[in-house]
Amino acid sequence: MLSAQQKASAFDPHGGPFKELLSAETIAARVAEMGKQITEDHRDHGEDLVLLSVLKGSVIFIADLCRAIALPLSLEFIGIASYGDETKSSGVVRITSDLTRPIEGKHVIVVEDIIDTGLTVHYLMHNLRTRRPASVSLCSLLHKPSRTARPVDIDYLGFTVPDQFVLGYGLDVAQQFRNLPYIGYFDGE
Ligand code: IMP
Repeated sequence: MLSAQQKASAFDPHGGPFKELLSAETIAARVAEMGKQITEDHRDHGEDLVLLSVLKGSVIFIADLCRAIALPLSLEFIGIASYGDETKSSGVVRITSDLTRPIEGKHVIVVEDIIDTGLTVHYLMHNLRTRRPASVSLCSLLHKPSRTARPVDIDYLGFTVPDQFVLGYGLDVAQQFRNLPYIGYFDGE
């Protein structure tokens, strides 16, 4: 449990309770590269490109990523919850808030914060394919390959991270710390 003082100092990436894994500058540089790559790959898709944010973890990432893509696109959001406890994915997923528009015939890029076991995104990709989009690809800021239970192809990946619970830049611990500008982990030592 963190004290109120420790929580407040979390916003200092070098003096707080979390160890910095990826700095705000490192993230920004990689997001710019990912945006360029997506722009090149989707140049011919006119106005049919949809960036789909998986709530809530990917909202900070998608806000930066969409501005690094020099193409017309629309944003969609989907809320999903995994049955199971807060920290463990069960693979049984339910949609808590669905898309506002059909994606039939659209080129959809699913934007995730992190692929951990892969169970959540595996379910989601399957669900989206039943809606007959022209294509569905996957973009994730982070991947923890050591935890894979369901292998998934990640078309656009920011960083591979070790098997640590990470937070910041959209990722939370008990709904907090999403607004840290860097990605860190709790160093309990
Ligand atoms: P998966 O189904 O195990 O791949 O879990 C996916 C979701 O679990 C992610 O979209 C995150 O919301 C959450 N998650 C997994 N690992 C972490 C972590 O290290 N920090 C914060 N959230 C995580």
